[in-house]
Amino acid sequence: DSDHFTFDPGFTSTASCESKITYIDGDAGILLHRGYPIDQLAEKSSFLEVCHLLLNGELPSADEFAKFEHNITYHTMLHAQFDSFFQGFRRDAHPMAIMTGAVGALSAFYADSLNVDDPKQREISAHRLIAKMPTIAARAFQYSVGRPFVSPRNELSYSENFLRMCFSVPAEDWVPNPVLTRAMDRIFILHADHEQNASTSTVRLAGSSGAHPFACIAAGIACLWGPSHGGANQEALEMLEEIGTVENIPAYVQGVKDKKYKLMGFGHRVYKNFDPRAKVMQKTCHEVLGQLGINDPLLEVAMELEKIALSDPYFIERKLYPNIDFYSGITLRAMGFPTNMFTVLFALARTVGWISQWKEMFEDPSRKIGRPRQLYTGATQRDYKPLDQRG
Ligand code: SDX
Repeated sequence: DSDHFTFDPGFTSTASCESKITYIDGDAGILLHRGYPIDQLAEKSSFLEVCHLLLNGELPSADEFAKFEHNITYHTMLHAQFDSFFQGFRRDAHPMAIMTGAVGALSAFYADSLNVDDPKQREISAHRLIAKMPTIAARAFQYSVGRPFVSPRNELSYSENFLRMCFSVPAEDWVPNPVLTRAMDRIFILHADHEQNASTSTVRLAGSSGAHPFACIAAGIACLWGPSHGGANQEALEMLEEIGTVENIPAYVQGVKDKKYKLMGFGHRVYKNFDPRAKVMQKTCHEVLGQLGINDPLLEVAMELEKIALSDPYFIERKLYPNIDFYSGITLRAMGFPTNMFTVLFALARTVGWISQWKEMFEDPSRKIGRPRQLYTGATQRDYKPLDQRG
């Protein structure tokens, strides 16, 4: 009907799936969540409101939002016994290693979440994950910098709560910064969901067997960590640090053309135009640095690199444009996060996308366990040869 797309791929394959959550037009650079353009949501909505939209299909009424926000807020605590789990890591453990382990281990605390065929239980599991990811992420960060864990506070908003758990220290009162809170919330919105990307497909495939949702999300975190996927935000900033100055850009770009390395934060499996999230991310980057009075030379390098790449035939022919990871690193560093936390923030935000798609999969009565097929290119059938008859 006119409100909904219908899509006939002309083939059936376990490799593709139907979804009502996110629509991407890679050539036009369009991203819609339940029909709403990403730039409108980033400018006008809040992350928790977008969570409700992704999970339930509609923007909430005032009452619905109050109930949803209360439900999330009152599930942000972690089981006290769980805090000792973090102590098992070395202090220099990558926070993504901690996130992967911690979220998987949390499945041991919620046996009821195994009842994946119960819609009410699925909703409880989704709310638990959205609520607890900031607390786990903040613990991974505090543990890596040797600061004591900070408990969530119920009077704070979702993003304010997370920033306080990350940056407050017992020795002084924590003063919220509305600029950082707004930027954090917008960055979470930009990373919330993105159709059937590698980590979402991982969560769907793991979930299709009926596995514990926390364990499925841990699988998604593991996949997101890769440098070609969510790990690109850390790689993109480290690339800008390696380039260092505008003068070094031409030589670095030549290395890309010589196929020595890729331009991190550029290119996309689907977008063959500007990633609409990258435009909002670039604007947020300028706002945060401007309002914090930070003059980061890497921003100048990033803008010059973008300008050169967008005018260079090598990149134009390959339809390579900045993606969401190109400007996020500069922004997150300005907000006080170390580079090894960048993908953790991506995982925190993407949890709602993963769990919304997991929930949608269970609402499909024709759901079966995922079983991608293959094109066999190995040896044809042959008989066994005993050892003394082999060359
Ligand atoms: C995310 O799927 C999602 O939605 C992911 C994501 C999400 O929200 O979940 O959007 C998040 O993962 C964004 C992407 C982050 N990754 C990076 O920024 C890493 C750098 N990008 C590349 O690894 C690459 O662009 C991919 C993996 C992202 C996409 O690769 P494609 O579409 O498979 O591109 P391709 O290999 O078909 O590229 C075509 C050509 C090739 O050159 P030729 O062999 O034709 O000569 O473009 C080249 C590629 O070598 N190319 C690049 C490049 N990306 C592709 N060359 C230099 N730098 C790059 N970044």
